[in-house]
Amino acid sequence: MCGIVGYIGNENIKEVLVDGLRELEYRGYDSAGIAVLQDDEIHSYKAVGKLKNLEEKTKNFTPHTLGMGIGHTRWATHGKPTEINAHPHLGEFSYVVHNGIIENYQELKKELQAQGVKFLSQTDTEVIVHLFEQNYKLLKDPMKAFEATVERLQGAYAVLLMTKVDADRIYFAKNGSPMIVGNDQNGDIYFGSSDAALIGKASEVIYLDDGDYGYTSIKEGITLFSDGKEKELNKKALVGDRVSAQKGGFRFFMEKEIYEQSEVLADTVMGRALDEKIAFEELDPNFFDGIEDITICACGTSYNSGLACSYLFERQAKIRTSVEIASEFRYKDPLLNPKTLFVVISQSGETADTLEALKMARDAGLKTLAICNVDNSSIVRISDYTLLTRAGIEKGVASTKAFATQVMVMWMLSLYIAQHKKTMTQEQIKAEIEAIRHIPQAVKVNDKLHEKVKRLSKRYLHGHGFFFIGRDLFYPLALEGALKLKEISYLHAEGYPAGEMKHGPIALADSNLFTIALMPKNIHYDKVKSNVEELSARDATILAISPERFELADDYVHTYYSDHAMSEFFEMMVVTQLLALEISVRLGNDVDMPRNLAKSVTVE
Ligand code: G6P
Repeated sequence: MCGIVGYIGNENIKEVLVDGLRELEYRGYDSAGIAVLQDDEIHSYKAVGKLKNLEEKTKNFTPHTLGMGIGHTRWATHGKPTEINAHPHLGEFSYVVHNGIIENYQELKKELQAQGVKFLSQTDTEVIVHLFEQNYKLLKDPMKAFEATVERLQGAYAVLLMTKVDADRIYFAKNGSPMIVGNDQNGDIYFGSSDAALIGKASEVIYLDDGDYGYTSIKEGITLFSDGKEKELNKKALVGDRVSAQKGGFRFFMEKEIYEQSEVLADTVMGRALDEKIAFEELDPNFFDGIEDITICACGTSYNSGLACSYLFERQAKIRTSVEIASEFRYKDPLLNPKTLFVVISQSGETADTLEALKMARDAGLKTLAICNVDNSSIVRISDYTLLTRAGIEKGVASTKAFATQVMVMWMLSLYIAQHKKTMTQEQIKAEIEAIRHIPQAVKVNDKLHEKVKRLSKRYLHGHGFFFIGRDLFYPLALEGALKLKEISYLHAEGYPAGEMKHGPIALADSNLFTIALMPKNIHYDKVKSNVEELSARDATILAISPERFELADDYVHTYYSDHAMSEFFEMMVVTQLLALEISVRLGNDVDMPRNLAKSVTVE
C-alpha cells in the first residue's frame, strides 16, 4: 500500500522522485512526501491527498546539481492521514521513509522519550530516525549507528535514511517489506518498493532479501550487508513495461491481489487487534450505547461479506443482525428503528444502491457506520463513522482482497461489540485475537496449492453448472465462491446452503453437475458431509475443500488451518478465488475486465 522511492544522481531529483511515486500510485495512498539532500541542505515537502498536491507544493523548488532524495506515498495505518504523519520523517539532521510495521515502536518510543527525544507524529516510523540519531551521537559513525538501529527493529520494514552527517549516502534496510535498489548506465542509483518505480530508469537491479541492509553513494556504488558481513551483489537486468510492472510479475491484477491478501490483512489488523483487546480509534467509546440491533446493507461481494459476518455478530456479540441487498432494501418501504445501527459495506464507497440506502437510513435518524476501502468516497463522507478496510487499490473487477479485508474488519467489530456488551470472556477475546493474527499466514498462497488448483481447473470447464455449498459462515463463502466463478468464467454457478440442496436443487444432480463442497472441520462437518453424500449418491461430480479427506469426492483440495473456523474460512476463500481464476484463464477470458461488469457501479 505505501510506496518508497529513492535516488542519487545528476538528474532533476524532484522529478525522478515524483515520477517514481506516480508509478506506485496504483497501490493506494492518502499522503505523499519527498526530501532532497543537496549542498548539505535538506529540503522536505509533504502533502495530504494526491501527488498533484505535492507537485503544487514543490513547484518553486528546482534542485540543481548532484544530490539525492527519498520519497514516499503513505496509506495511513498508525495515525491519521495528516501532513505531520506523512513521510519522510525528520530527526535533528536525518530523514527516513519506511514501509511496514515496527512492532516494538512503542517500547522504542518510550526509551527515546526517556532520553528527551520529542516526537512529532503518531507513526511507528518516527522511532527509526530518532533511534539512528541517538545511536550516532554515541557511536559517531553513521554506518555503525544505522546497523545498531536496524538491530533494534522488530516487525516488517523497508527503510531508506538520509543524514546530513554523511551527505553522500542513502542507507537502506529490508525485512519483510519489499525493496529494490538499482543503477543505470551512468551509475545513478534508484530505490523502489516495487520495480514499477524503477522501470525505464535503472538498467540493473538487486531485489533485496530479508535481513539485507547497507548504503549507496555515487562514488561507492551499492554496498550490501547481511548478518554483519558484506554480501555479493546479485544484479539482474531490469526489463519490462510499466503495466506489467504494476502487476508485480503476476499475469493478472486479480492474481496479484489474491497473493497480496496476506500483506493487506496484516495492515487491516494493525493497531486494531491488540494483545488483550480490539481497538478502533475511529469509534467513540459510547458508540454502541442504545443500539438494539444491526442492519447490514450492501451489494455484490460486499453483501456476501456482510452475510458471513452476520453470523459472527449474532454468535459472538449477541446482537440481532439482518442483512439486506441494497437494491432491494431501497424499495421495500423498510421499517426503520432509530435504535438500529445501520452498517453499509462497500469496496468503492460509490455504489449507487448502497449510497441511496445509506441516505434513507440517515434520514430516518439511524446511526450509520461504513466499512469501506476508499477514504473520502461518497459513502464515507455521508456515514457517521467509518472503518477503513485498508486493502489498497483493487484493480481486478472480481473482488478478492476487498472481500477478505471486509470480513476481517467485521470479525474484529463483532469482538469489539462483544467486549462492550461483555458477551465474551477476556480469555475468549484473547483466543480470537490470536486467531486473527494468524490469518495473514493462513491466506498465503503456496505454490503447491496454486499448482494443484491450476491442474484441477481443466476438469471444470464444461458441465451444466456449479453449486458451491456450505453451512453457517461457509454458506456466504459459498455464495462468494460462486459469484467469483460466474463473474470471470461466465459459467453458471450458484451458492447454496448445503442443507437446502434437498429442497429442490438436488433435482439437477448428475455427473455434469459440479459441486464445490466447503467442508470445514470446525463447523458442522458431519452435517455437510451427509449433504455431500446425498449429492454423491446422485452421481454429482464433487470437489471437496477440507482438512479431512473425503472418500466420496472426485477431487479434493486439502486445507491445513483447522484450528479455528475463521482460519478455515480464509484459507478456503483463497482456494475458491484461485479456482475461479484458473478456470477463467483456461477459458481464455479477460480475468481483470470481465464482460458486462464494472468495478464501481454508480448507477442504479
Ligand atoms: C460491482 C463490483 C463488485 C462489487 C459490487 C459492490 O458489481 O463488480 O465486485 O462487489 O459492485 O461494490 P462495492 O464497491 O460497493 O463493494
